[in-house]
Amino acid sequence: MVKMNGSCDMSRKLFLPMSTPSSLRWGIIGLGAIAKTFAEALDHTSVGTLVAVASRSLDKARDFGARWPQAVAYGSYQELLDDENVEAVYIATPHPQHAEWVVKAAEAGKHILCEKPITLNAVEAEGVFHVVQRAGVCLMEAFMYRCHPQTLKIAEVVRDGKLGDIRLVEAGFAFDQGPKPEGRHQANELGGGGILDVGCYPMSMARIVAGAAKGQAFADPVEIKGLGHLDEVTGVDTWAAAVLKFPGDILAQIATGVRLNHRNDVRIYGGAGTLTVTSPWFCNGELLFQARGSTEVEKIAYDAPKPLYVYEIEAFAAYVKEGKAPVISWADTLGNMCSLDRWRQELSFLYQIELPTSNWPTVDRRPLRRSATARMAYGELEGVKKPISKLILGTMMRPNLPARSILFDEFVREGGNAFDTAWIYSADGSAERTFGQWVRNRDVRDEVVVIVKGAHTPSCDPVNLERQFEQSLDRLGMVSADIYVMHRDNTEIPVGEFVDVINRRIKTGEINAYGFSNWTLERVDEALEYAGANGLVPPVCISNQLSLARMVKALWVDCLSVGAPEAQEWLAKRQMANLAWSSQARGFFTDRSALHLKEDKLLSESFYAEDNFERKARAYELAAAKGVLPVHIAGSYVLQRSFPSFSLIGPQNLHELHSNLGALDLTLTPAEMAWLNLETEKL
Ligand SMILES: NC(=O)c1ccc[n+]([C@@H]2O[C@H](COP(=O)([O-])OP(=O)(O)OC[C@H]3O[C@@H](n4cnc5c(N)ncnc54)[C@H](OP(=O)(O)O)[C@@H]3O)[C@@H](O)[C@H]2O)c1
Repeated sequence: MVKMNGSCDMSRKLFLPMSTPSSLRWGIIGLGAIAKTFAEALDHTSVGTLVAVASRSLDKARDFGARWPQAVAYGSYQELLDDENVEAVYIATPHPQHAEWVVKAAEAGKHILCEKPITLNAVEAEGVFHVVQRAGVCLMEAFMYRCHPQTLKIAEVVRDGKLGDIRLVEAGFAFDQGPKPEGRHQANELGGGGILDVGCYPMSMARIVAGAAKGQAFADPVEIKGLGHLDEVTGVDTWAAAVLKFPGDILAQIATGVRLNHRNDVRIYGGAGTLTVTSPWFCNGELLFQARGSTEVEKIAYDAPKPLYVYEIEAFAAYVKEGKAPVISWADTLGNMCSLDRWRQELSFLYQIELPTSNWPTVDRRPLRRSATARMAYGELEGVKKPISKLILGTMMRPNLPARSILFDEFVREGGNAFDTAWIYSADGSAERTFGQWVRNRDVRDEVVVIVKGAHTPSCDPVNLERQFEQSLDRLGMVSADIYVMHRDNTEIPVGEFVDVINRRIKTGEINAYGFSNWTLERVDEALEYAGANGLVPPVCISNQLSLARMVKALWVDCLSVGAPEAQEWLAKRQMANLAWSSQARGFFTDRSALHLKEDKLLSESFYAEDNFERKARAYELAAAKGVLPVHIAGSYVLQRSFPSFSLIGPQNLHELHSNLGALDLTLTPAEMAWLNLETEKL
């Protein structure tokens, strides 16, 4: 699980030949404007030494490094990461390159200070944190103003109540550099636009003020209304504004732009007075307080004798060397990134690379590969010529291509290859299209097992089955389905009619294997008999609900479970595979379920029952004894059946995905499974 406070492994051994024990040996990646400022700041502190610089051009690195003769110049970023003398890396490339180099630096065991914004969007940040957390290194987003005493003072003044109750924050950071469509600030492919480049400052300021007002490090807006201008040439936001609403009805008006002149100050309005910050970002102005009704202006003092970037370097050194909490926690960074995403969403602004038809890259920009430590288990189905991962990933969680790609990528790295799609998952077909786009982006059609579902009620008839199937293949951009599953049954239609049309598609090579979802076992028997009697390919799987918790009431109309003992026997006797949906009973085996929690109606109405809470108590008890999570117990229970059993999973994020994977590491004994299912009293 990602620790969102960003704590890192202090025991990590790193070489220390040339700096003092408390001084970090720095390497800089990307030798542009801010890299120079940072390198110069290192000259003003004893807690850091520049030992290496890396550019994509060796000549440029040598020129840059001439002023720091002790620093080795590299003509590629990777060479710097391979240098064992480098202890910490400052990443100063344009934003779209941040993720790749953070991940590679983490893999090389370096601590990382990465320029803001940490990534292009929040899901990419999630992917980055996941890798960094595993690597056990420190990572902080480089918001220099956040580490400066002035900003700490602002938060203190707000927290201590000098302004009374906080009502409104006004904050802006913008500049007008004229039209420069190819430069970093405006080029679409370089992450140009105001919101990401400097809008992240007023957003973060509003969040820390709203947080301080409640005695917290930060708060996230509950509502964001935004507008902006998208450039005719580059498509990026050249100026934009937003109104934010925080808990307690604290409002903020924020503005940004790369083609906009602005005051670039901050005003915080409270019931007892107003605080004006004349230079909030470069911290070389004043903090002015004016009490309500008074004409007098009080200058609030604080001590800040050092250059601005030195505070950031010192804060990072304290984080790495002394184990202090990072000034900007991972949760804070993620909250800011989510808020920036929401602001962009208000403008309907996506970068080209984020569009539904783009090749959104892997987080490390490498081709997607199964990792050497993948722990997936596999099963087989007659007709499918590849092993099929026991966990089958849903394809409709999360909203867009980047958000889905990050889950799909991680699933494949962990050995997953089976994906569940359905005609009905999105009214406009976007769920299938997005998945198809990802398959093409990663060039994995031959490796993945694609389940195509269709013919859901009221389109459950042979004509609509074929129509939807063709539409699904078209949306997916594929010529065949590895497994076709009828989503529902229509008992008014003789089963043979369905078996016939599916077999026609098997003959053309468009379907390799098939099955039925939410069919009664009697109807499946009829289909088996019909196929047998007519020399046709029989169904090889069903896809009905199965979880450790009993489905008390059908989750949706006409949904069927195979949880009952007779159904389990039926499956075992025929060795028919089941692809279990809602295999985690909608999160019943987490703290989402409790008698008083009724917000998730589907969860409470379908799974709340005395016997299920007893199963949950037993799953918790067994999990504690085994040192695993209750969801691992519940997941393992479904996979370890006496018939081929697969689980459909629908994680919302990487953390949930890894929780699902934990089920694969576990073997339950028959006695444990019987006890979990209340078949025995004692274990
Ligand atoms: N905290 C602050 O005060 C502050 C101020 C300015 C910028 N920033 C942040 O720092 C980052 C860099 O900004 P900057 O103003 O320093 O940018 P810059 O002057 O354009 O420099 C960026 C450097 O990144 C490298 N780079 C790698 N891939 C690139 C590509 N495809 N196109 C162009 N350059 C590429 C280049 O270095 P090589 O040629 O040496 O490889 C380039 O010199 C941005 O994320 C920005 O938000 C922060």
